[in-house]
Amino acid sequence: MKGKLALVTGASQGIGRSCAQVLAEAGARVVVASRNLEKCQAVVDGIRGRGHEAEAARLDVCDYEGVRRLFGDLLQRFGGVEILVNNAGIARDNLLIRMKPEDWEAVISTNLTGAYHCTREALPGMLKKRYGRIINVASVVGLMGNPGQCNYVAAKAGLIGFTKSIAREVASRGITVNAVAPGYIDTEMTRNLSEASRERLVSAIPLGRVGTDLDVASGVRFLASEEAGYITGHVLQINGGLYT
Ligand code: NAI
Repeated sequence: MKGKLALVTGASQGIGRSCAQVLAEAGARVVVASRNLEKCQAVVDGIRGRGHEAEAARLDVCDYEGVRRLFGDLLQRFGGVEILVNNAGIARDNLLIRMKPEDWEAVISTNLTGAYHCTREALPGMLKKRYGRIINVASVVGLMGNPGQCNYVAAKAGLIGFTKSIAREVASRGITVNAVAPGYIDTEMTRNLSEASRERLVSAIPLGRVGTDLDVASGVRFLASEEAGYITGHVLQINGGLYT
C-alpha cells in the first residue's frame, strides 16, 4: 500500500486503531480520525514510533460540514484518500418499547449517516484517480438481528445495503466497496457486558473465543489490498463461526 493515503474513522481506539496500525504497517500513510484529537495523536505517535507514516485529525462523522472540510483539505494536499475505512460507531441498546428517539437518532446518525457523509466526500478524489477501496465496518447483528439493539441493527443492516449499492455505482471506476461484519469482539464497546452474558456469548461461538481487534483489522487490510481488487459488494464475516 506504499504511496496510498488511508483514512480510518473512529480510529482513536479498538477496531479502528488496529485498522490504522495494520494499514500503516502495510505501507499506507494513515489519517487517524476521531472526535478526540489527543487520543488520535497517541495512536499516531505509536505508528510513527514503529517507522510508519500517520497523522491525526479531529472528526465527528455526524457533522457533515466538518467531514467536508477534512476531505477537502486531504484532496488539496494529497489528491484525496485511496482507502476509506468507515469504522466509527456507537451502541445505545434498549428494547424497542423503551428506546428513546434520541438513542435511535444518535445510533443511525453515527453508524449509518456518518458513513454516507465520509463516502460522499471521499469519492470525488477516488473517481478522479479511478482507484479506491472503501471498507465499511458493519456487524454480524446487521445480518442476524438482535433483541435490544434495533437501532444498531437497523444502522448496520443499512450499512450493508449501502455497501452493495455503492459497489455497483462505482465499480466501473476501479473503486471497490466492501463491508466486514464482525461478531463479538473484545473492545470498549463490549467490555461492560456481564460475566454471564459474556459466557453465554462465547459458548455460542464455534471457535470458542471472543474476537480481537486484530482479527477484524486483518480482514480490513485484505479488502484494502491490491489482491482484493476483484472483490466488491461483499460482506466478509469475521465472527468465529457464530453466524454463517
Ligand atoms: P469502540 O467504542 O472502542 O470504538 C468506537 C470508535 O468510534 C471510537 O474511536 C469512537 O471515538 C469513535 N466514534 C464514535 N462516534 C464517533 C463520531 N461521531 N465521529 C467520529 N468517531 C466516532 O468500539 P469498537 O468495538 O472498536 O467499534 C468499532 C466499530 O466496530 C463500530 O462501528 C462497531 O459498531 C463495530 N463493531 C464492533 C463489534 C464489537 O463486538 N466490538 C462487533 C461488530 C461491529
